[in-house]
Amino acid sequence: MSKDTGIEIAPGIFWVSRRENSLLERNIYLRVFEGDGRRINLLVDPGAPRDRKVLDENLSEIIGGMSRLNVAFANHQDPDVAFNLGFLQQLNPELFVLTSEDTWRLLQFYGLKDDYYRSTESFPGGRARMKTGQELQFVPSPYCHFRGAVMLYDKESRVLFTGDLFGGLSFIPDLQADERHWEGVKTFHQIYMPTRESIALALDNIRKLDPPPKMLAPQHGSLITGEWIEFYMEKLGRLPVGLNLLLDSRTKENYLAAVNAVFLELNRSLGPEEFARAVKHLRNDGSFTNIIQFGPSGVVDIKTDLNTGLELLTTELFDHLPGKKDMVRRVMTRVLLAREIPLPERLRHEATAREGLFEM
Ligand SMILES: [Fe+2]
Ligand SMILES: [Fe+2]
Repeated sequence: MSKDTGIEIAPGIFWVSRRENSLLERNIYLRVFEGDGRRINLLVDPGAPRDRKVLDENLSEIIGGMSRLNVAFANHQDPDVAFNLGFLQQLNPELFVLTSEDTWRLLQFYGLKDDYYRSTESFPGGRARMKTGQELQFVPSPYCHFRGAVMLYDKESRVLFTGDLFGGLSFIPDLQADERHWEGVKTFHQIYMPTRESIALALDNIRKLDPPPKMLAPQHGSLITGEWIEFYMEKLGRLPVGLNLLLDSRTKENYLAAVNAVFLELNRSLGPEEFARAVKHLRNDGSFTNIIQFGPSGVVDIKTDLNTGLELLTTELFDHLPGKKDMVRRVMTRVLLAREIPLPERLRHEATAREGLFEM
């Protein structure tokens, strides 16, 4: 059986985690620097309490125990990244912590000592020369996904530790990524990254690295090497995420497409005559202008704010299709949720009122 933990992924760099069959696997890395008669053991993104057992096994085997760590680097302060830091510093009170200033302000609350911390910004040019001779470069990735997130570039091995950036949900738990892992990376970024601009900024910073990285080592998911680096950079560079998705879902086009999709389905279910009767009042609602504006092939405009327009539509459909409320509710809920449009009050209230528990 091939090894499932403690794998040397590049000279002097070990993956010291193990897959646990969850979607959000953590990757912890150990970098052993040797030179000038010294050894410096650096841990990257030390993980959470449930990673301690495998961390202990691996560090015992590779460097003789967790207390032999000299330095720990944290990309940002999230518990999956850095919760273990307090515990590790108790084991070795001289364990030194490297992270950005913005991260430290929060990270220190894991019980860390102020005098064993140095900010990545305090190194001239964002570069640290180790006593063993190797050079580390700190590469900011602001808002990917925390404002103080910072990546770590090991120039000798050309491995870039990217934190949550390039991280993926483990739909496929392999250690090496290929094109099949895109789905997990995409989903993770759409949930956790705030905007496409933050990703673009970080990608620019990666493109400036000289020499370019040979491996991207994220805190979740799979390692990205060789030709896959460009594949993933290019795809991530044009992925709408977080706020982009939320704001896109609020555009008028999205609402109009949703209303027309609802009408198409109702037309199919009810038949053209009953459907025409149900929407007759919308076509001529008696007010000075029709709030929902019809063109030859469907709804072309909503004259009020978009959510009010949807409220009106729901009320009209419920009032004119009293025996078909369940069907209308089902169709509207499915279409609106698929387009990330908030459900109209009336749709939500009717749904909860049916439970017989709440007034609203
Ligand atoms: Fe995070
Ligand atoms: Fe994370």
